[in-house]
Amino acid sequence: MASQEIWSNVDDYLVKLHIGSDEALDAALKASSDAGLPQIQVSPTQGKFLHLVAKIRGAKNILEIGTLGGYSTIWLARALPADGKLITLEYAAKHADVAKANLKRAGLSDKVEVIVGPAIESLPKLVDRGPFDLIFIDADKVSTASYFEWAMKLSKSGSVIIVDNVIRKGAIADAKSTDENVRAIRKFNEMLASERRVTATTLQTVGSKGYDGFAIAVVN
Ligand code: SAH
Ligand code: DHB
Ligand code: MG
Repeated sequence: MASQEIWSNVDDYLVKLHIGSDEALDAALKASSDAGLPQIQVSPTQGKFLHLVAKIRGAKNILEIGTLGGYSTIWLARALPADGKLITLEYAAKHADVAKANLKRAGLSDKVEVIVGPAIESLPKLVDRGPFDLIFIDADKVSTASYFEWAMKLSKSGSVIIVDNVIRKGAIADAKSTDENVRAIRKFNEMLASERRVTATTLQTVGSKGYDGFAIAVVN
């Protein structure tokens, strides 16, 4: 069996075990797909992993960079306590509109604020809204290092920073890659490794979404 087939079979098995059908999440995926959004949201098991990290951290104030249709947003926001808040940043107005409808259906509109515009312009306006307990970076990959610098400014000791898509089918190990996304993520990885204010590692992931990975850091 080809690797992708095995990874997808195992993900199907795990999703049935740990997640099953979920009205709001299933509806969010359908609405996003019907609206023609790219189907690049985190997988269900990855979404639940984000949810778990938020719970383990006891996160009350979450920041997400890159909303798409709000699939990861729903997973994260569901981990919040009653008085918790999540701010999510999205460049595309169409994506933000789909996300808002998906969040409303999930009963999360009161907890989540979707801010539309280039994240690099929204981030400086969030200084008074921080510090955030958990920051999930998952937008345009070329800006990842800049988003990480902002994440550091918007954090405190104990804050968790998670970055998606840092393995890129293994291309990340190629120092000579000319792919701008790979080069940008390599630059981010070097920044992360030399950042003395955090303790960090990177996990490779396989599953229905292929072969990629998460970087995870905690602010010392
Ligand atoms: N976190 C989502 C997936 C995000 S996909 C999930 O797992 O469900 C990446 C998103 O980042 C896309 O919706 C894209 O429009 C958005 N994006 C791209 N460039 C951006 C920018 N400069 N600022 C904010 N969002 C951006
Ligand atoms: C892409 C972006 C993502 O955030 C992701 O998880 C997968 C793919 C992309 O831009 O292709
Ligand atoms: Mg991603």
